[in-house]
Amino acid sequence: MFEDIDRILINEGAIATRLAEIAQKITQDYTGRDFIVLSLLNGSLIFVADLLRLVPLPLRLVSLRVSSYTGTGSSGEVTIAKDRLTGLDGRDVLIVDDILDSGRTLHRVVGHLRENTGAASVKTCVLLDKNVQRAVPFNADYTGFQIPDAFVVGYGLDYNERYRNLPFIAVLKSDAISRYSH
Ligand code: IMP
Ligand code: MG
Repeated sequence: MFEDIDRILINEGAIATRLAEIAQKITQDYTGRDFIVLSLLNGSLIFVADLLRLVPLPLRLVSLRVSSYTGTGSSGEVTIAKDRLTGLDGRDVLIVDDILDSGRTLHRVVGHLRENTGAASVKTCVLLDKNVQRAVPFNADYTGFQIPDAFVVGYGLDYNERYRNLPFIAVLKSDAISRYSH
């Protein structure tokens, strides 16, 4: 798997250091509040697991499967499995996702929560914020790293469901992109 890497953008040490900072901020902001973390799957799986173990609060964790990407491009359509979004009435909700790119996913999920669940507050936390022209305007409340406009994998992020288990954020070689294109 490591031979498929063109370059590492963010290494394990940098991720660990930044997660500790974000966790401290979240802990300060949510102390004394009854809050629910909504993890968007599969991309945020590894991020949320490492992050929440650094947040010593009695939070609740729920997850939601959303998808918008096929291969290395956004399909533009965001699907939400709505059956999982009950019990948020009056609660503070923190949505965690892997990466903010076109903005469609978080815009859609935040909009859905605000309109349909009665959540008291809805905030967002992303590991990566890609420096691109958004399809819809969106800023996250907590951001790990700003990255350039490149397709990245690792630490939860996939290319056609592969490479999520890389321990760092990296760019793939073009032959790996062709090999797993379908
Ligand atoms: P958005 O809806 O375009 O903001 O994209 C959000 C979703 O697209 C993320 O949760 C990822 O699953 C996927 N995505 C966006 N950029 C990348 C990337 O560079 N690598 C892997 N997945 C990505
Ligand atoms: Mg994804």
